[in-house]
Amino acid sequence: MPAVVVMGTQWGDEGKGKIVDYLAEKADVVARYQGGNNAGHTVVVEGKEFKLHLLPSGILYKGKTCVVGNGVVIDPEVMLREIKGMQEKGIDTSGLKVSNRAHVIMPYHRLLDEAEETYRGDHKIGTTKRGIGPCYMDKNSRCGIRVVDLLDEEEFSEKLKRNLEAKNHLLKAVYGVDGFDYETVRKEYLGYAEELRSYVCDTSATLNKAIKNGEKILFEGAQATMLDLDHGTYPYVTSSHPIAGGVCVGAGIGPTKINTVVGVVKAYTTRVGEGPFPTELFDEVGDHIREKGHEYGTTTGRPRRCGWLDACVVGYAGRLSGIDYMAITRLDILDELATLKICVGYKYKGAVMDEFPASLKVLAEVEAVYEELPGWQSDTTSIRDYKDLPLNARRYLERLSEVADIKLGIVSVGPGREQTIIMHEIFE
Ligand code: IMP
Repeated sequence: MPAVVVMGTQWGDEGKGKIVDYLAEKADVVARYQGGNNAGHTVVVEGKEFKLHLLPSGILYKGKTCVVGNGVVIDPEVMLREIKGMQEKGIDTSGLKVSNRAHVIMPYHRLLDEAEETYRGDHKIGTTKRGIGPCYMDKNSRCGIRVVDLLDEEEFSEKLKRNLEAKNHLLKAVYGVDGFDYETVRKEYLGYAEELRSYVCDTSATLNKAIKNGEKILFEGAQATMLDLDHGTYPYVTSSHPIAGGVCVGAGIGPTKINTVVGVVKAYTTRVGEGPFPTELFDEVGDHIREKGHEYGTTTGRPRRCGWLDACVVGYAGRLSGIDYMAITRLDILDELATLKICVGYKYKGAVMDEFPASLKVLAEVEAVYEELPGWQSDTTSIRDYKDLPLNARRYLERLSEVADIKLGIVSVGPGREQTIIMHEIFE
């Protein structure tokens, strides 16, 4: 039975939440496999807006199992706040399962994230300052605290003591900021441990059992391909693996268990934080997209940089994740534009490039090769059938599909669940 991955193809904020929410209705299990509360999904259900940072979007449906996998980094305070927020809105959170192997974001991770960004000055990454990078750093340098450790008072106290000694020293000596009091942090986190305990289990076992039982699993990516630690625009990336390959490591399932990969593509491009962005717009078209699309961060409120659709980025994402179908989001934001541009290639020093550049210096200097297409200048928000889309809208989408070499699967024309055009049933 199908295990489907939904992941971002650009720099994040493609509207994955809406697509995941739409597909979640048909899934039995929804699982996150990387990232943490640097993500921000806005889902609109019956006119009510829900903002999710850490919990899988499937939580909004009754009776789904929602997994936070081992590859996710968990800020327990944020997770508990989100759980309580959902409960207050009448959402049942009893299906939530949190991996015992996931790493815990500690207060020193958040402070280090901020201090390191200040220290980088002009070379700052533009992180969300949620402690994501420093938590993954500790995971990789093998001094991190996992959920299973948090639940064991003795183990946690000992690990915290060792970590705090080192981190307090680092914070003071290198960054000139005060660290944390051991007993205060210990008490606070042991409190969180008790509140989280009932949700914690071996989620790899849960997922593999579900796969064996023929249940439908939806893996929900956070961030996106161009923010992938290995394949993105390094160092302006996040510290995890949003690409489809990240699912195996971050959820503890084998690659042979994944059936379909859906790449979410916003009908234009945005990015937050620093780093090169070949199709960035600095004119009134960029401002129009930002205002009409409310392109301001869900997590940080920062205005997003906006630009034309870059089919080179989407094609690169397709290759890295073996994307079967694209889910196009926010087509309606382009409804009013008279002409549109799609970037179909990059030129560097006058020559067309064959591969997506690894060097940021090169990416910053490439010239985007555009194709100009006429706009459709009509309202698409109430269209539910692909053939009813204006011809120019279909031409725009089909040209993207051709250049990126990925089939169209879903087109979204508004935030509501019903504002969705299905061209291929993902869960057959
Ligand atoms: P971090 O993930 O907070 O370490 O931030 C690293 C980079 O990833 C920064 O450029 C962030 O703006 C970006 N980033 C992290 N999460 C998201 C997201 O959900 N959407 C878009 N950008 C993100």
